[in-house]
Parts: sequence; structure tokens; C-alpha cells
Amino acid sequence: MNRMRVLRRIAAPAALTVAAIATPVVAEPDMDKYGKSCAMCHVSGAAGAPKTHDVAAWEPRMAKGMEALVASVKNGLNAMPPTGLCADCSDEEYAALITYMASPE
Ligand code: HEC
Repeated sequence: MNRMRVLRRIAAPAALTVAAIATPVVAEPDMDKYGKSCAMCHVSGAAGAPKTHDVAAWEPRMAKGMEALVASVKNGLNAMPPTGLCADCSDEEYAALITYMASPE
């Protein structure tokens, strides 16, 4: 029996598994920043904020496109203050947080 062949048979599926875990489809939201900013209004729905995990409330917002939504947070929108109280969030972090809030639990 060829030893290399046996090793390759064992190693190949393991490499596939690692590749699948290492390529996330959506960036993970920063839950620490979420808890210190977005959550304060978006968990309770304060002042008409679309609630976290309320997919129906987020649907018309998501229809605007992610770029417009990130701009709304950065510039502020009605009762939402500019930056959504996360002064050090990057555009990517905003997008991940928005995707998180608009997704079902
Ligand atoms: C002080 C309360 C408050 C905080 C903090 C807050 N929001 Fe909001 N957010 C609101 C309110 C209120 C609305 C609804 C505004 C409206 O449409 O009148 C809203 C709407 C939004 C929208 C929809 C914008 C649109 O164009 O329809 C997005 C996206 C959003 N928030 C993301 C975030 C993110 C991400 C964070 C955290 C970084 C955050 N918000 C923090 C109150 C808040």
C-alpha cells in the first residue's frame, strides 16, 4: 500500500472543511459595538427604530440598498443620531450590524 496515497485521502477532506469555515459569506457583526450603540434603540424600537430581527420592519429599509443604509447611519436619520452612536465603526462594520439586525434570530 502506498503511504502517500493514504495520507492524501485523509488530508483532503480536512482541507475542504477548513476552507469552508475560513470563507464567511457575511462579515461577523461586532457584538461589543452593537451592545454599546445600535442595541440601545434597535432592541426596543425606540423612536420608531426598526427592531433587531424584525425582518418585516427591515424589508423596506433593505430595499434602499446597503450603501444608502450605511449613509443613513453615518449622517443620521430623524431620531437616529449621526454614526448611530458608534463613532469608530467602519462602513464594513455598519454593513455587518445592519445585516445582523435585518436577519431573523
Ligand atoms: C439613538 C437611537 C439609535 C441608535 C443608537 C441607532 N439607531 Fe438606527 N435608527 C434609529 C431610528 C429612530 C431609526 C428610524 C429613523 C426613521 O426612519 O425615522 C433608525 C433607522 C436605522 C436604519 C434605517 C435607515 C434608513 O435609511 O431607512 C439603519 C440602517 C440603522 N438605523 C442602523 C443603525 C446602526 C447600524 C446602529 C449602530 C451603529 C444604529 N442604527 C444605532 C435609532 C437609532
